[in-house]
Amino acid sequence: MKRKYNAFAALVIGIVASANVTAQQPASFVVKANQPTADIQPTMWGLFFEDINMGADGGVYAELVKNRSFEFDTPMMGWKETKKEGAEGSVLVYNLGEVDMANRRFARVKVKSAAGDYGITNEGFRGMGIKQGNQYDFSVMARQQPGSNIVLNVELVNANGEKIGETTIKPEGQAWKKYTASFTATATEPKARLNIWTKGQGEIDLDMISLFPQDTWKGRPGGLRADMIQLLADMKPGFLRFPGGCIVEGRTLDERFQWKKTIGPAAERDLIVNRWNTEFKHRLTPDYYQTFGLGFFEYFQVAEDIGAEPLPILNAGMACQFNTGELVPLDELQPYIQDALDLIEFANGPATSEWGKKRAEMGHPEPFNMKYLGVGNEQWGEQYIERYKEFEKVLKAKHPEITLVTTTGPFPEGEEFEYLDKTLRAMDAELIDEHYYRPPQWFRENATRYDSYDRNGPKIFAGEYAAQSVAIASPDNKNNWETALSEAAFMTGLERNADVVVMASYAPLFAHAEGWQWTPDMIWVDNLRAHGTPNYYVQKLFSTNKGSQVVPMLHQDKPVTGQNGLFASAVKDNETGEIILKIVNTTDKVQNSETVVEGVKKLASKAKLTVMKSDKLDAVNTLENPINISPVEQNLKVKGNKVNLPLAPYSVTVVRVKAS
Ligand code: AHR
Repeated sequence: MKRKYNAFAALVIGIVASANVTAQQPASFVVKANQPTADIQPTMWGLFFEDINMGADGGVYAELVKNRSFEFDTPMMGWKETKKEGAEGSVLVYNLGEVDMANRRFARVKVKSAAGDYGITNEGFRGMGIKQGNQYDFSVMARQQPGSNIVLNVELVNANGEKIGETTIKPEGQAWKKYTASFTATATEPKARLNIWTKGQGEIDLDMISLFPQDTWKGRPGGLRADMIQLLADMKPGFLRFPGGCIVEGRTLDERFQWKKTIGPAAERDLIVNRWNTEFKHRLTPDYYQTFGLGFFEYFQVAEDIGAEPLPILNAGMACQFNTGELVPLDELQPYIQDALDLIEFANGPATSEWGKKRAEMGHPEPFNMKYLGVGNEQWGEQYIERYKEFEKVLKAKHPEITLVTTTGPFPEGEEFEYLDKTLRAMDAELIDEHYYRPPQWFRENATRYDSYDRNGPKIFAGEYAAQSVAIASPDNKNNWETALSEAAFMTGLERNADVVVMASYAPLFAHAEGWQWTPDMIWVDNLRAHGTPNYYVQKLFSTNKGSQVVPMLHQDKPVTGQNGLFASAVKDNETGEIILKIVNTTDKVQNSETVVEGVKKLASKAKLTVMKSDKLDAVNTLENPINISPVEQNLKVKGNKVNLPLAPYSVTVVRVKAS
């Protein structure tokens, strides 16, 4: 966002150097395994998804054709006429006006030469990622104009124009009909293009021209990129928040996210410009639209697939306050509230209900069992409270079973934050969403943030956070080790306070290396590859070592919150009977550590040790070197009830040891 950064931005941050700890002076910790202080909610570590950085269209939504139905504001964007020497033809875009608002445009291709040397080409999203040997599903809506008999020769070509796959479609008749064909790619290519050659003479109308790989997540036709979803599934996330982010709010209210327009047959989903298209002048992405091929049904479905609680966020009657800040008058808020009620029915209602029926028709008669619903993204001011109260009145009366998520705006401190925090607490809000895009140092300094929160007040959802290596949303920000290490230090504080913090998610989630607007991001992709950043691996370490209860881990009777640059927390896993320690060394020195686990009879003689480390704070993972910084596992010997281990400089260490 185009926001001013506060005083923290001025600081150029260096990691704390440990002045007085050496390898000869072990840091001593005591874990009180029989004195749990909090239950850890299954939702504790989750995911924040937003269609930013070509996260959905051009990213996880596996459609390879850009502007497949000619509905972009520039209708031929992504397409061009393609012809061999001497060929003659033309392409016109027709607009049905009010007849079919969701899919009003189509292309009419007129061919004069019969040889099949005239057609149209789609460039894909920065090209199309094609894998040798994989099957691809082509489909098109087509109709012949009177007297025409045109055959479509469909071919994929590589960056040099060489054919790497082909098929033929023979549309018949003058009524719209869907035609499909599958073919195998003969080569791997990150920058393929799709040519559609027209053979014969006359005119043919084309719409919804689509190409999908068959190797989607769970093999679903028209589905999601399997490699990207697998990275999410590997994290075993507790929840999936969707669809954002500012995208919920829209630059204007007209451009807000309206979930009802994102369900049903893909061709009937009414696309809109993606609000990130023009947000950053330095990262303009004019071809970024939301086709909603990844819509609310698919969000619920993927949440279910990966075992995450679905957490949709809806517009609160306010457009993004960093942009227009448009408001819906309070007495006209009803349709927005109705959207929320209908969403609950869509997710949880019986298949016989109006909205439950739509879910069932899409292939999921069983409810999605949604338990959480967010009202507003990063709103602020009394206008938010006024609007939230209207939602709350109706939603709580009709659906007391749904936990409502409220927001304290974009910043974790300051006047707006204080106002909302105080007001929402006074209103007995259930779950408050806090956001922090702050320098790495802030994360280290705020490991104690929640120690002083009211234990009986609202629960906290740390809904968006990421350490910014340069400044908030600076295009120079990097997902470097310093940011990930600092987030890990902070996350020990979230974990220690799991009685207050019940959900946390890094943001944003995905970024396409050639189509991003905002950095840093948790997972980077190109058309063929996807990789986790160090920040991803930190999230995964916490999430896959969540445990069930927090137990005290103390240094000289105090929580470990930065003494000598060390941060730590401990949990018990009641299912496996393990004690799990997480220790973050933010210094440039090896620090020996000795952890005594009290309150257990015995520890197993062998523990599992997982370490992430790098000597270089500016080290990153790349598409070429995707696991440069990533967890390395080994065994660790344990004596009695003591876990002794050296903590590498700039490291995150997780120890899992069985206790009896
Ligand atoms: O994560 C990127 C943006 O940051 C989100 O859309 C918004 O909620 C926050 O300002």
